Amino acid sequence: MSQDLWNAVDSYFLSKLTPPDEALEAALSASKEAGLPSIQVSPAQGKLLHLLARVHKARRILEIGTLAGYSAIWLGRALPENGRLISLEIDQRHAEVALANISRAGLSEVVEIRLGRALDLLPVLAEEQQEPFDMAFIDADKVSNPEYFEWALRLSHVGSLIVIDNVVRAGAVADPADDSPEVVGVRRLLDLIAAEPRVTATAIQTVGLKGYDGFAMALVVGENEPDHTA
Ligand code: SAH
Ligand code: DHB
Ligand code: MG
Repeated sequence: MSQDLWNAVDSYFLSKLTPPDEALEAALSASKEAGLPSIQVSPAQGKLLHLLARVHKARRILEIGTLAGYSAIWLGRALPENGRLISLEIDQRHAEVALANISRAGLSEVVEIRLGRALDLLPVLAEEQQEPFDMAFIDADKVSNPEYFEWALRLSHVGSLIVIDNVVRAGAVADPADDSPEVVGVRRLLDLIAAEPRVTATAIQTVGLKGYDGFAMALVVGENEPDHTA
């Protein structure tokens, strides 16, 4: 098994299932042009997020970690006309590039980028007493994953879906010798999920253009639902 093979299969699936898309390609070019890191979700992963949002009929989505708005475009396109994606980004330059990309994708009306530290912005969302989010995508610094998960849960309702990126990190998550702050952040997140009766969750390993990584996803359930730990 090799990265080359994973890339070839990802490219093959893309060629069959994901037609070239001007706005998404322009977003990647602008991101590269501006010198932003190329750490956005892969096209196949972006489409998975898009499909999850559609299956779920999400109307309000929270994203933590915008970068150049690539995943935001995939998610924003899954929303109905009156939908809203609020995406939190700490880096002003990232937010500027993302804003232009989102505008080019025709999503300015549904996607809102808020600039700041996510841990400062999340309490503001709570204070605003907005409608709860139907879906959250957590994809910022990994150290704060546990806090992001708790906020996403607080801002959600029974039935909301919380997706967290980068929980595998090439297998580091299960390597007892790896105690880097990012991996510890992922493990603390999984400990929280495991101990949380209000969610039922899984994690899926992925290979492809993003190397070897994966997503965790947690469905918010009623505490008395019989299958909440199954
Ligand atoms: N979701 C994007 C990729 C996000 S990369 C996509 O797939 O297209 C992670 C982003 O999180 C970076 O832009 C980084 O600046 C941002 N970030 C890191 N720490 C943050 C924090 N504390 N608050 C908000 N954003 C943060
Ligand atoms: C990194 C962050 C991500 O969100 C990602 O998907 C891949 C890599 C990183 O910080 O290296
Ligand atoms: Mg990520």
